[in-house]
Amino acid sequence: MAIPLLLILLSSLGYCEGVSYLYDHVYNMVSTVDFAHTVPQARINTPVPVKLTLAITRVLKVDSENQELVADGVLSMRWSDFRLAWEPWVSTDVTTIVWPKADSFWTPDIVVVNGQGSQYDASPETSSVRFDRTGNVTWTRRLRMRVPCDVGTGNLINSDVTCVIRLASWAHDGTSVSLITAERGVNLTDYWADSRYDVTGAGVTKSSQEYDCCAAPFDVISFSVVVGNRAK
Ligand SMILES: *[C@@H]1O[C@H](CO)[C@@H](O)[C@H](O)[C@H]1NC(C)=O
Ligand SMILES: *[C@@H]1O[C@H](CO)[C@@H](O)[C@H](O)[C@H]1NC(C)=O
Repeated sequence: MAIPLLLILLSSLGYCEGVSYLYDHVYNMVSTVDFAHTVPQARINTPVPVKLTLAITRVLKVDSENQELVADGVLSMRWSDFRLAWEPWVSTDVTTIVWPKADSFWTPDIVVVNGQGSQYDASPETSSVRFDRTGNVTWTRRLRMRVPCDVGTGNLINSDVTCVIRLASWAHDGTSVSLITAERGVNLTDYWADSRYDVTGAGVTKSSQEYDCCAAPFDVISFSVVVGNRAK
């Protein structure tokens, strides 16, 4: 008697075998109208933590005329979408799925809030997201940042300057999206060594910002970079 009961239980829970079932399941789920538009909050009033790591890959310009910094970077965003977890419902050896179109998913709307003219690379090759059996999602995007910075006067900078890049959700306050970062939140491993500029230091702080629109404050992550002229 126990075995049929177990089978009925497992099938009513949707337990299934196989890779094709898994992909069909993900496809059907992300194809529903609401999927990409709903913040994956497991509980109401519990925000989804989004972890940000910024790699600075190149400083293009420290501009004294416009008092701004222009730099390229790679922003890595990690969060959990419980709806995407397939363990333990599907039994397969697959541990990670790369999905080619991020816009089928809910993704955080992280922007450079102090940088007008900052832009993500929108090429289709860079729009894929990666997620694992527990529903942890990673989305990595190339980003050109253009932020105001007190560069001083003169054609070339004579001493190091510190510029701050502030990232926040555009529309979600801290009640639905919270931002976190690694202690070493700025990654300089891939900094382009031939660049005219040196990045001699970096740091990260978290704060919150209130706006007239909204009752709750927004989380803001401020990445600071210390830039010097290589030829000085
Ligand atoms: C998913 O993310 C959570 C929270 O960061 C972490 O504790 C967990 O180990 C991650 N799961 C996997 C399989 O990496
Ligand atoms: C920094 O980036 C490199 C390559 O992109 C990566 O291997 C390394 O793990 C990153 N370090 C941190 C602390 O994220």
